Amino acid sequence: MVMKKGLFITFEGLDGSGKTTQIKLLDSYLKGEGFDVILTREPGGTEIGRKIREILLDKKNQDISHKTETFLFLASRAELTSKVIVPALGEGKIVICDRFFDSTLVYQGIARGLGVEEILEMSLWATDGLVPDITFLLSMKVSRCDKRIKEANRKKDRIEMEENNFKEKIYKGYLDIASKNKERFVVIDAEKSIGDIFEEIKSRVLKHLKDIESGIVK
Ligand code: TYD
Repeated sequence: MVMKKGLFITFEGLDGSGKTTQIKLLDSYLKGEGFDVILTREPGGTEIGRKIREILLDKKNQDISHKTETFLFLASRAELTSKVIVPALGEGKIVICDRFFDSTLVYQGIARGLGVEEILEMSLWATDGLVPDITFLLSMKVSRCDKRIKEANRKKDRIEMEENNFKEKIYKGYLDIASKNKERFVVIDAEKSIGDIFEEIKSRVLKHLKDIESGIVK
């Protein structure tokens, strides 16, 4: 197990669910309150991670095997965890990460059908057992996410180009993983307004920080 003093927050959800907006809001709010915050993303976040990300999201790599894809996500995460996240947590910082192993559990374990148990075991091995303190799931129906991506004129990456059945599995898979990990998951209805969503996120983070201060959680 990784020993840590800081706070590790992750964000999960389908593309188009509004993760990035909320991450930016939380980052600037916490920095404004004087906290030391590190903002990072998966896959990427390190030089090696960025190179791995290019392979993973490149549309030319359509024939990549599901297992290879999984190992690349895990490799990127191993690098990010050991080089960035664990050192920052050790210094007592707040780390906000855009996606972490729940993405692999849901995308590769459930939607690709590789098995949640297997992926969880490999993920924990890759990160020396690091588990987020709080995971915000921005839950939004596939049709809404697709509409938003279209409206924003965003190009889809290789994984986002999967057919809608794949995304339905992700939508349901996230809710399933969240229901089995209630102590750290906060499921948020991503159809709510940006302000309302942020209030939910802020109050949960502030509560956690208070609990750390009063010794309720370590
Ligand atoms: P990301 O860059 O986080 O996408 P976005 O910023 O648009 O949310 O992730 C890229 C894609 O990779 C996304 O479709 C989700 C997928 N993904 C996996 O399939 N498994 C994983 O372990 C991770 C981290 C991402």
